[in-house]
Amino acid sequence: MSSEKNKLRKAVFPVAGYGTRFLPVTKASPKEMLPIVDKPLIQYAVEEAVEAGIEVLIFVNNKSKRAIEDYFDDARELSDHLARKNRPALLEKITGIVPAGVSCVNLRQTEANGLGDAVLCAEAVVHDEPFAVLLADDLVRSDGAGCLKQMTDAWQNGGGTMLALEEVAAQAVSRYGVIGGARGGDGLWRVEQLVEKPPPAEAPSRMAVIGRYILQPGIFDHLRNTRPGVGGELQLTDAIARQIGSQPVRGLNYEGRRYDCGSKLGYLRANVEYALEHPDIAGEFRDYLKNLKLP
Ligand code: G1P
Repeated sequence: MSSEKNKLRKAVFPVAGYGTRFLPVTKASPKEMLPIVDKPLIQYAVEEAVEAGIEVLIFVNNKSKRAIEDYFDDARELSDHLARKNRPALLEKITGIVPAGVSCVNLRQTEANGLGDAVLCAEAVVHDEPFAVLLADDLVRSDGAGCLKQMTDAWQNGGGTMLALEEVAAQAVSRYGVIGGARGGDGLWRVEQLVEKPPPAEAPSRMAVIGRYILQPGIFDHLRNTRPGVGGELQLTDAIARQIGSQPVRGLNYEGRRYDCGSKLGYLRANVEYALEHPDIAGEFRDYLKNLKLP
């Protein structure tokens, strides 16, 4: 790969979903703005992307999702207020949200037509280079490098498409894109089959794709030529499946712990575990949990 083609600079964040599993709160605010302790889910995904070297953040919003656009924009009134009140620690919390050298682009998906359609909306901004896709409701905590950084490091050598994989319980496969394939000597999976939300009996394995992808710009043509799949929506999984055989499609069993924050239980688990490490409340929260009498 030429140096230009193996530099990953852009990341797409599809944030136009209705978040129906979190109604009523998602009636007026996006699920990606739900807080894990005091930071919204989307910020964790952005931090993971920036750690992996991403310089352009592309949010695919819908019209009721101004909150995300505003969150990553300047809040001049609030920062002036905090500066006047001499609250530098608080000021830092809001000014560091988008690091220097990183820019944001906000796009609109006019209809919620699936993940594939959301990715296709980003074509004009991604243009002709590889890019990442991060689904913020898959929150991944790693002790070392973040999930996307692990993927980028593995992808540098060999390019193509890279998926983040996790082994899930047999009865859970129908919630994910699932691969069939074999693990190579380098520890990466060579993806030979990819199926969106298969019934357990038809799943090619228990290796599920989680919400992190490194894709090539050729995916846009495949998306255009893919028919609606599961749920009548344009599925990214189906478009990636079309690339198998014509370019490397590999998967990394990433190191870390994922919280499915698209589900109430996963979201609550994330809050509890992040709170137990949060410098402002860890000690008190631990004591509270220890003394909690469960009914
Ligand atoms: C999407 C993808 C699926 C993937 C999952 C990861 O599904 O379509 O292939 O395994 O994200 O979270 P969704 O959760 O949006 O239904």
